[in-house]
Amino acid sequence: MQKNGSLCLFFSQQQLTFPLMLAVGAAVIGSLQFGYNTGVINAPQKTIEAFYNETWMDRYGEIIPKATMTTLWSLSVAIFSVGGIVGSFSVGLFVNRFGRRNSMLMANVLAFIAAALMGFSKMGASWEMLIIGRFVVGLYSGLSTGFVPMYVGEVAPTALRGALGTLHQLGIVVGILMAQVFGMDALMGNATLWPFLLGFTFIPALLQCCLLPLCPESPRFLLINRNEENKAKSVLKKLRGTTDVSADMQEMKEESRQMMREKKVTIPELFRSPLYRQPIIIAIMLQLSQQLSGINAVFYYSTKIFEKAGVQQPVYATIGAGVVNTAFTVVSLFVVERAGRRSLHLLGLLGMAGSAILMTVALALLERYDWMSYMSIVAIFAFVAFFEIGPGPIPWFIVAELFSQGPRPSAFAVAGFSNWTANFIVGMCFQYVEELCGPYVFVIFTVFLLCFFIFTYFRVPETKGRTFDEISSGFRQASGAEKHNPEELNSLGADSQL
Ligand code: GLC
Repeated sequence: MQKNGSLCLFFSQQQLTFPLMLAVGAAVIGSLQFGYNTGVINAPQKTIEAFYNETWMDRYGEIIPKATMTTLWSLSVAIFSVGGIVGSFSVGLFVNRFGRRNSMLMANVLAFIAAALMGFSKMGASWEMLIIGRFVVGLYSGLSTGFVPMYVGEVAPTALRGALGTLHQLGIVVGILMAQVFGMDALMGNATLWPFLLGFTFIPALLQCCLLPLCPESPRFLLINRNEENKAKSVLKKLRGTTDVSADMQEMKEESRQMMREKKVTIPELFRSPLYRQPIIIAIMLQLSQQLSGINAVFYYSTKIFEKAGVQQPVYATIGAGVVNTAFTVVSLFVVERAGRRSLHLLGLLGMAGSAILMTVALALLERYDWMSYMSIVAIFAFVAFFEIGPGPIPWFIVAELFSQGPRPSAFAVAGFSNWTANFIVGMCFQYVEELCGPYVFVIFTVFLLCFFIFTYFRVPETKGRTFDEISSGFRQASGAEKHNPEELNSLGADSQL
């Protein structure tokens, strides 16, 4: 009780008002949707494969060849990320034209279409419907991974930006966990009910359509993009629960003045201008560190991994991974404003590398010692826990922090594109690479993790507690320094916290 009280106090002091909670809560339903569809095809793999086989038999009068099944299944898993790539890259087309909130609202059309396609695929005896449905819900999810962190970052007060930004990841992991639980054989992961499991996507979509109209537009968008000062002010008053919002307004106006100078920044300009080159490289590398850590090898295929590691009840181990995943995202939520982004990201990457080595040992020695199957569970749980300490939540919300209003939409498109492309590569290739490398498949992820650790150590600055404007002026100074003295840039970029 005592502890709870102090947590509430911590948050109330930091301006956690009801309208702010409602706005963030409604937005992260989009994250939940993304997570649900990430996790949903893991547990019922065998059941849905049986459906593919039956359909194949009906059409061609023979059992589906093994290689065709692997390809069809990998495609069903990975086409979701193809949708994600296209969706995330299109973020910039919507957010400035329709606003952040309305963009989120509109995207739900896709979720409804996807729910119908997947939910009726069995009735239509068509795996094509299922695969197209996965693509469409991928589109929705790709858009959400831009819309949600952008909106949340823009409505949050500086002191809570990391914690509220982590709620995007919390939405994702709760979605994954729900999918894992509902996906159990005894609930919906069986031959009769799996279409409902996939079609359930329409429920969060409906909920979001009811809640978003009650939420305000991003005050930054209103002031900086639309020049509607009075509206921005009244939204801010509601969100902050106070009549004195002059400090926030002042900061936004400063950013607006800056934007007058830079106008809208296109994607090529992000790479051309020395002002944005460093932050965009950091954003891309952080996204890659999240995906090439191998996390989705676990979330797409853990049931199969556990099965190979000799675990008796692989589905329960998968759910265990989901629970650990959620618990550690909550841990991250409470420490991210104290420990800072950089140190948590470093700790997470290193811990994941250690866990991946442990996993390799467990898989390699499985033949010799039976108890190695328990070790593999411990290794995967630790892998997931360290992921959520840093590499899970941080890359998503740090993009909003690294860029000011002008380049932000383009930066989200590039970051999202990198994330989803890497997600696709892992989802598509993991089964094949695993067939090739056997127990040593996690060594590949270890190498990636260590490289990203080194990059983060040398190049990623701390952004905790700094306003958007302070962060981007840090890069501005650093890029000025680049012309004169590259070593100065190094120290500005990483060591001196901008
Ligand atoms: C991150 C990743 C996502 C992954 C999830 C696992 O949000 O972007 O791909 O499945 O974390 O918790």
